[in-house]
Amino acid sequence: MAQGSGYGKVILFGEHFVVYGLPAIASAIADSTIAELARSGDRKGKPGSTGAGVFVMEGDGWTLYDARPETPGYKAGKAEEQKKSIDLMLAFLKVDTKKTPLDIRLGGVLRAASGVGASAASCAAIARGLSGLLGLNLTDAQVNDVAHEGEKGYHGTPSGIDDTAATYGGLFMFRKAQPRNIVELISTPKSLDIVMGNTGMTASTSEVVSGVRERKAKDPQKYDKVFREAEKLVMDSRKALEAGDVHTIGTLMNLNNRLLQDIGVSNDKLETLVDIARKEGAPGAKITGTGKGGYMVALTPGKHMQERVAKAMENAGFAALRTTIGGRM
Ligand code: MEV
Repeated sequence: MAQGSGYGKVILFGEHFVVYGLPAIASAIADSTIAELARSGDRKGKPGSTGAGVFVMEGDGWTLYDARPETPGYKAGKAEEQKKSIDLMLAFLKVDTKKTPLDIRLGGVLRAASGVGASAASCAAIARGLSGLLGLNLTDAQVNDVAHEGEKGYHGTPSGIDDTAATYGGLFMFRKAQPRNIVELISTPKSLDIVMGNTGMTASTSEVVSGVRERKAKDPQKYDKVFREAEKLVMDSRKALEAGDVHTIGTLMNLNNRLLQDIGVSNDKLETLVDIARKEGAPGAKITGTGKGGYMVALTPGKHMQERVAKAMENAGFAALRTTIGGRM
C-alpha cells in the first residue's frame, strides 16, 4: 500500500486567459487530497469504507473508492471524466492493470468541488501513490507530468496551472510554454487571509473553456482587448503581491472579475457571493477557476475580516472555506 497527496488551489488572477498562453497567478491551499493505492486483494478486509458518502467506480483493472467530502452531485457528475483521467495516467505510466489490478482510495479534507483544483489534486495524489506502490521513484516534475496527463481527462486543454499548484504548492506566477511551463515563485511580505465561497454548483471545465473559445472566435476584437487587459493586470498584480499592497491587490481582483464577466463565465450565485464579500469590507473579490459555479475568492486581510466575510456567506446559505496563502519564502 502507498499514499500520495496533492494540494487544492486558488487562482488569484488570470484563469481562462492562461489557457491561451497568458500569465496567471495561483496559490496552493492547505486543504489537500490523499490517495491510497494498493494492489487489489492486498488489503486486509474491505478495501476502505464503502459506507455513506463513498463513491465507488469500477474501471478497467482498477476500482476507485472516493471518500472525499463533496459538493453534492460532483462525483457522479464527473465520473466519466474521472475514469478517463485515471486511464490516461495509467497508460502514461504504462501500468498493466491486467497484471496489477489496483484499488484507489481518495480521501483528505479538500472538497471535491469546482474551482478549488479538486481534479488536479486527485491526479497529483494518485500519481504519487502509484509512484510509491510500483517503486517508480517519480520526481516532482514527473508527478506533475502525470497529473497533467490526468487533467486532460477532465478537459482536453488544461493550461497546467492547477496540476502545478497541486504538485508543488506555494504562490506562483505561471505561464504555459514549451518545452516546460514557466513557474516563478512569489513572496509576499505577510501571509494573506482569504475566504473561498462555494456556490454549491458543479461546472464542467471543458464546456466552460469551449464556450470562451467559441465566443472569442465570434468576436475577436472584443476578446483581443480583454486579453490585453488581462495580461497587464497579472503583471500589475504580481508587483502588488510582492509589495504586500492589499488595497491594490483587491482592486485588481475586482477588475479581474469584470474581465471574467466580459468573457461570460460568471453567474448569479458567484456574483451574489462577490457582493456579500465586498459589502462586508473585503477589498477584492472575484470568481476563481472555471466559473459558472464552483468557488469565488475574497481577499480578507486579518482574521476578524476573514471571519466576518465567511460568516456572512454562511448566513446566506453558502459554505465558506477560510485559508491563508503567501508569505515569505
Ligand atoms: C481551471 O481551474 C482554470 C482554467 O483556466 C482552465 C485551465 O487553466 O486549464 C479555467
